[in-house]
Amino acid sequence: MSTLAGKHIVLGLSGGIAAFKSAELCRALVKAGVTVQVVMTEAAEHFMTAVTMQALSGRPVYTSQWDPREANNMAHINLSRDADAIVVAPASADFLSKLLHGGADELLSLMCLARPIDKVPLIVAPAMNREMWSNPATQRNVAQLKADGIHVLDVGQGDQACGETGDGRMLESDEILEELEAFFTPKALSGKSVLVTAGPTYEAIDPVRGITNLSSGKMGFAIARAARMAGAQVTLVAGPVHLPSPRGVLRFNVRSAREMLDAVVQQADAADVFIATAAVADWRPTHSADQKIKKDGSGQTPELSFVENPDILATIAQSLRGASGELFCVGFAAESHDLLQHATAKRLRKGVPLLVGNIGPATFGQDDNALLLVDEKGARELPHASKQALAVQLITDIASRLTR
Ligand code: C5P
Repeated sequence: MSTLAGKHIVLGLSGGIAAFKSAELCRALVKAGVTVQVVMTEAAEHFMTAVTMQALSGRPVYTSQWDPREANNMAHINLSRDADAIVVAPASADFLSKLLHGGADELLSLMCLARPIDKVPLIVAPAMNREMWSNPATQRNVAQLKADGIHVLDVGQGDQACGETGDGRMLESDEILEELEAFFTPKALSGKSVLVTAGPTYEAIDPVRGITNLSSGKMGFAIARAARMAGAQVTLVAGPVHLPSPRGVLRFNVRSAREMLDAVVQQADAADVFIATAAVADWRPTHSADQKIKKDGSGQTPELSFVENPDILATIAQSLRGASGELFCVGFAAESHDLLQHATAKRLRKGVPLLVGNIGPATFGQDDNALLLVDEKGARELPHASKQALAVQLITDIASRLTR
């Protein structure tokens, strides 16, 4: 379940063409179980109608500080008092400037100024032309707003409605949703650095063929996302997979086990936790041909021989920092049967404090899974759930082990 479920968010729209994304954001928030109260500036109404936002939020929209629906005629006070957060998206250059100066000449800025500053966080998603964004005045405003405790989201980069290209686009609705989920996630891994491997490896036979496996990378990517949401700095070393990078995660793409090992060794020094979810190929062809191996019509098949790949997890777990526990190492075991027995044996063989077992054929490529956490004391089951939900539980579990 999303960390946003049950929250009450006031969604403010100031004037900007990015307001069309706010409709999608509103819908996504409602779908995540949020009650959304929309407040719009007069400028926002030039881009998006209150009717649209009312239909999507399921609540009447407020556009004026003189709204007579409020018995005390104090919409700016009433609306902000029970909110878990105010999210202004889009936040125009003018609106940021107004926030900075404590301007309050219409309902949205008035409500932001009147909010209980310690109880109701203010999150803004800037949206403007690239010149407006890079202008020292805007940059100064953003720096000061951050210093004032306002959460200013990043801007996107790319084509702008004006025809120019650069920084200043409002984040997409799914990116804002991700940022909001992260905002409400307890920061159990704050100040920690987490290194994750994910996906399969690909071991080349020749330039067009190779051996790989059915790992989709979904579990590892979910873990990287959950760690980042929990406040960690996350580095993800990914084998060949078709998955978008989780927001805020530093990703290195690799192909073979040896490339994965190199990347992991480079990153491991800075890490506090290493989670090896990758399904690393056990063997690689002894020789990878420079040119495509041709079928010559004789019916003869090529002779392939294999050598064992380096064990990345064992290498790191048995390094100085791994063995001393300074780097907390977590292994995965994809088994087809006798999970507890195999996972227990694998934990000892790899030399890791925590080994997470799952049934490989049942989970490869799927969006859900079930995990068995095996440590020196025994085993704990994380019952069948989405990989995202399991990743959150696993990260919470790992965080608690770091503080013990
Ligand atoms: O030995 P096995 O592949 O069953 O062990 C699985 C665990 O070891 C996983 O955590 C996997 O990422 C890791 N591993 C590794 N390097 C290998 C083989 C497995 O890091 N060469």
